[in-house]
Amino acid sequence: MNDVKPEATYLHGFSPVEQARLMKQARLAESTIFSNIDYTGARRVLEVGSGVGAQTEILLRRFPDIHVTCVDLNEAQLEAAQQNLAKMPWCQGRYTLLQADATNLPFSPREFDAAFLCWVLEHVPSPARVINEVRRVLAPGSPVYITEVMNSSFLLDPYSPNVWRYWMAFNDFQYDSGGDPFIGAKLGNLLLAGGYRDVATEIKTFYFDNREPARRKTMIAFWEELLLSAADQLLEAGRVTQDVVDGMRRELNDVQNDPNAVFFYSFVQARATVY
Ligand SMILES: C[S@@+](CC[C@H](N)C(=O)[O-])C[C@H]1O[C@@H](n2cnc3c(N)ncnc32)[C@H](O)[C@@H]1O
Repeated sequence: MNDVKPEATYLHGFSPVEQARLMKQARLAESTIFSNIDYTGARRVLEVGSGVGAQTEILLRRFPDIHVTCVDLNEAQLEAAQQNLAKMPWCQGRYTLLQADATNLPFSPREFDAAFLCWVLEHVPSPARVINEVRRVLAPGSPVYITEVMNSSFLLDPYSPNVWRYWMAFNDFQYDSGGDPFIGAKLGNLLLAGGYRDVATEIKTFYFDNREPARRKTMIAFWEELLLSAADQLLEAGRVTQDVVDGMRRELNDVQNDPNAVFFYSFVQARATVY
């Protein structure tokens, strides 16, 4: 599509490694993200910022009556989504993939009766515009679920100074690129200002300590992949040094193997209705 405007700097990039990371991330977080999502009665679900189709697969599996229209700005993500979803014969004919900008959706009013957004508003310079566009294309009574980061909630014990340096640089870079790594706490206000009703927010937490050592280890290993997804860009922009990247990796490895480690990260899921 030629009329789709180019994206702003995107922290994670679009490499095959990153695309595989998104698949892993969706599976790791599935039970937490989907514990209270209910699309009963919905048929036409709009997924904005659908990436490589990782959440699409989960949506189609959990809600057998829905068709999902996936919108993403990036062509490489859509191609990966096409390939990932094609591997699952059971969901054929139940999704559509479209390249479009979330701030200018190519749909008529009231085309959908539910929406799903996950880890996308944090990357958009004007989340209010996206929220308005989503409302425009939803029919009255439609539920929308938005899941977003709240990066100030992250805690790792034992204290790991290079992880902290890297994390601050990661968040600053996202913020300076027009994104918002703290948007989770703002979802309630954004939805109210966007004219939504029944706005409710839920704090969701990954909290792993000695009670679940295996899941703690898996999560810390995944966190390293998440942080590394931005390493090339952070190094190129002079936001971190190679020493900090190496130190961050070493510390995460140490914490992963520490018998008393604590991993804590909270994010926010908002639910609202269109009238
Ligand atoms: C972190 S990924 C999340 C993908 C998916 N929601 C998931 O949870 O696996 C964010 C996605 O949003 C897309 N994106 C960023 N800005 C966008 C925009 N303005 N319109 C549509 N998609 C956008 C990116 O291309 C990327 O695929």
